[in-house]
Amino acid sequence: MSEKIYSRIIGTGRYLPEKILTNHDLETLVDTSDQWIRERTGIEQRHIAAEGQTTCDLAEQASLKAIEMAGIDPATIDMIVFATTTPDKVFPSTACLLQQRLGIRGCPAFDIQAVCTGFVYAVSVADQFIKTGMAKRVLVVGAETLSRITNWQDRTTCILFGDGAGAVLFEASNQPGILSTHIHADGQYEDLLHVPSGPSKLPQSDDIAEKTMAMKGNEVFKVAVNTLSRIANETLDANNMTKDQIDWLVPHQANLRIITATAKKLGLSDKQVVVTVNKHANTSSASVPMALDEAIRDGRIQPGQTILMEAFGGGFTWGSALLKY
Ligand SMILES: CC(C)(COP(=O)(O)OP(=O)(O)OC[C@H]1O[C@@H](n2cnc3c(N)ncnc32)[C@H](O)[C@@H]1OP(=O)(O)O)[C@@H](O)C(=O)NCCC(=O)NCCS
Repeated sequence: MSEKIYSRIIGTGRYLPEKILTNHDLETLVDTSDQWIRERTGIEQRHIAAEGQTTCDLAEQASLKAIEMAGIDPATIDMIVFATTTPDKVFPSTACLLQQRLGIRGCPAFDIQAVCTGFVYAVSVADQFIKTGMAKRVLVVGAETLSRITNWQDRTTCILFGDGAGAVLFEASNQPGILSTHIHADGQYEDLLHVPSGPSKLPQSDDIAEKTMAMKGNEVFKVAVNTLSRIANETLDANNMTKDQIDWLVPHQANLRIITATAKKLGLSDKQVVVTVNKHANTSSASVPMALDEAIRDGRIQPGQTILMEAFGGGFTWGSALLKY
């Protein structure tokens, strides 16, 4: 019988654009307050891409850091899976643009669009290719310039989002690795969180609201908390594991209250949860890989530990990955 193949992390990286927009800065743009934003979301600031700086620019920096940590030659990467909702161009895919930047040729490279769950979807896809022997070394990226699809006149959304990129290199190994991934979607929630127009559904007017994110925050909040605890249980059940076997929760960083509620349902202490939302707000598909990178680089996450990653986003989409570092 052939040996089981797992996807193991060999490198991580993150990149945040230089410009910081604080809650106090937002007070000058819309009718809000630092106190309101902190209390309702836990967010203190967000990073915003410079004029002309694109999603691929951020992704390139994050990827180079992951490649450096892994100590590999980029030419040995045999697949790029890129999660983004804010691609540089309609086409080519941002994965192809990144492939060119990294000087790689020939390997498959494609984008995944699952909004804030994009990275978890991308990890799931990468894992299928590695487990079946179709790929040995896969670069998985989550990168966004959400500031480009934010309505800076809408206080109910503009306080929540930011720009950034995270990258993770996975390699085939006979040591665990990713234990399981779980991805889901339910399209009936389209109108709770969306951008009303796109390349095919053109805006009906010049109103900026047609081209930027619209959200019914309250309703999204409730579904997110319930769904995230459900997916955590689904993941543990699939592995015959119990809550106390999780060392780290690396959640999508949308709102501190959602993160805290999910951690509480899992019986995890604050110290077992990686929180970055205060520093860079919701960066959609970039949030999980950036949080993972931060906790690996500062030594919190140690080899052999068990990590639960989970995310929820527009679609709705949701998903999780359980892995050994
Ligand atoms: C958006 C969110 C922070 C709002 O918090 P909330 O506690 O649900 O607040 P509500 O939407 O009920 O609004 C409460 C009041 O604050 C006001 N308000 C909304 N945004 C505000 C802001 N930026 N500053 C000050 N007041 C604000 C509302 O107008 C409302 O006023 P009213 O009571 O006079 O009508 C919260 O719902 C949330 O985080 N939802 C999930 C969003 C999310 O994570 N989306 C991405 C998923 S990937």
